[in-house]
Amino acid sequence: MAAPDTPRTDDWWRDAVIYQVYPRSFADGDGDGTGDLMGVRARLPYLAELGVDALWFTPWYLSPMVDGGYDVADYRAVDPAFGTLAEAEKLIAEAREAGIGVIVDIVPNHVSDQHAWFREALKAGPGSPERARFHFRPGRGENGELPPNDWPSQFSGNTWTRVPDGEWYLHLFTPEQPDLNWSHPEVRREHEDVLRFWFERGVAGVRIDSAALLTKDPDLRDFVEGTDPHPYIDQDEIHDIYRSWRALADEYGGVFVGEVWLPDSERFARYLRPDELHTAFNFNFLSCPWDADRLRRTIDDTLAEHAPVGAPATWVLCNHDVTRTATRYGRADTGFDFATKRFGTPTDLALGTRRARAAALLTLALPGSVYLYQGEELGLPEADVPLDRIQDPMHFRSGGTDPGRDGCRVPLPWEAEAETGSYGFGAGDEPWLPQPEDWAPYAVDRQTADPGSMLALYREALLLRRSEPGFGDGPMSWLPAPEGVLAFDRGHGLLCVVNLSEEPAVLPPHGRLLLASGPLDSEGLLPRDTAVWLRA
Ligand code: GLC
Repeated sequence: MAAPDTPRTDDWWRDAVIYQVYPRSFADGDGDGTGDLMGVRARLPYLAELGVDALWFTPWYLSPMVDGGYDVADYRAVDPAFGTLAEAEKLIAEAREAGIGVIVDIVPNHVSDQHAWFREALKAGPGSPERARFHFRPGRGENGELPPNDWPSQFSGNTWTRVPDGEWYLHLFTPEQPDLNWSHPEVRREHEDVLRFWFERGVAGVRIDSAALLTKDPDLRDFVEGTDPHPYIDQDEIHDIYRSWRALADEYGGVFVGEVWLPDSERFARYLRPDELHTAFNFNFLSCPWDADRLRRTIDDTLAEHAPVGAPATWVLCNHDVTRTATRYGRADTGFDFATKRFGTPTDLALGTRRARAAALLTLALPGSVYLYQGEELGLPEADVPLDRIQDPMHFRSGGTDPGRDGCRVPLPWEAEAETGSYGFGAGDEPWLPQPEDWAPYAVDRQTADPGSMLALYREALLLRRSEPGFGDGPMSWLPAPEGVLAFDRGHGLLCVVNLSEEPAVLPPHGRLLLASGPLDSEGLLPRDTAVWLRA
């Protein structure tokens, strides 16, 4: 998108680089061990220099933090751990000054059990209008002692919890995250009001959490493996909600990005029809193994599924839910699957990092927009969080077998030799999740001083991506390449080549080498797990 001093165009989101801020772990302004908005405001120059177009903030609202803020108690308040509403308004305005848009995260599928609506529902009792905003039901079995249906959870474990008066309520995630009833008009009205609340505060966009889960089978029928439609994933009725959201967003020029995990590309593309969401995260790309054929197929499928609806693709390597890229690419299984995440998986971090560097150039060269999760620009690995410090409910609900998602949520290291014990994350010594002892080399100040660092690579790549008209939205075509090598042309004389094979590869004819993820070999060949941008 436009450089800070040029005006933002209406379709900035079609090729933007959007940096994901996990506020709890970005920068701690008040020294209490938890990142906050004050910390982000102080680091805005870092983000502007990195060269990103927008920031997506995972939820900063009032929350008991049972699921890292995805359990929202009040959408119109900022959690005191992060700051105040006034501070959020300042942050939005200051980012805008720097040419950076702000995207907030809305969690429409559920609220916190501390949300006023749920507390009222518990008090009001069975059959009350307060309960109708949720999915309350009597249980099955002789005395209602069995849950109303057999739905599997999005986290492992149960999806129903019984309350003292005998009724059960539905929660696809933890019991502290009761699901809202989206066939209730008040639920719809309230969310449209919340969207207006944030658009009126100047946000450029909204990320929609669990976007394909909102509407449920009206009879809450049991889940039968392999039958269509699924009782709670991707029900047809959901599109009606997004059509009315789109009309609302258009009043403000705001954009949506949906968290839509759907393997079926035709069903996925429905969310991106011109009167629905602007974009959705590309989880097929995120989960794709480091393999040339698989990646090429995923890229082709992505472009083919987006083309008919006219939506730009998004390219995502990592987020706050999945294994860090450098770690994932250093394992035997380089794809991503929640079900197979385990403690102690052997990892070759040097290999993973090399691939993460190449993947950065691949991703930034593809047509569409890119999401960059905080710390990826530093090449952070997944951290081993000591068992007694893990907070993620995914870990506990798996009975302790799944390490959970805290390993990618560890506070960022800013200064290698900071006087406090948190690499300059904050003035306190004890961040909410402990940082590994060997993280000094990853610190922002160290990497700034090192032209060979991951940060230097990202900075240079983002700068080039902004200045070269061939990048971002637009056509791409594959070039002939040896087995295991991806080579494509972005027009305007821009080529990208990535070698995923074991053998060094000959580069296609070209003029200048613009950027490389690692050195070419002594014969000028492209070594394995290395990528280059070339001027044709
Ligand atoms: C999304 C979020 C995840 C959260 C879940 C429940 O998948 O990305 O972090 O736990 O929704 O809200």
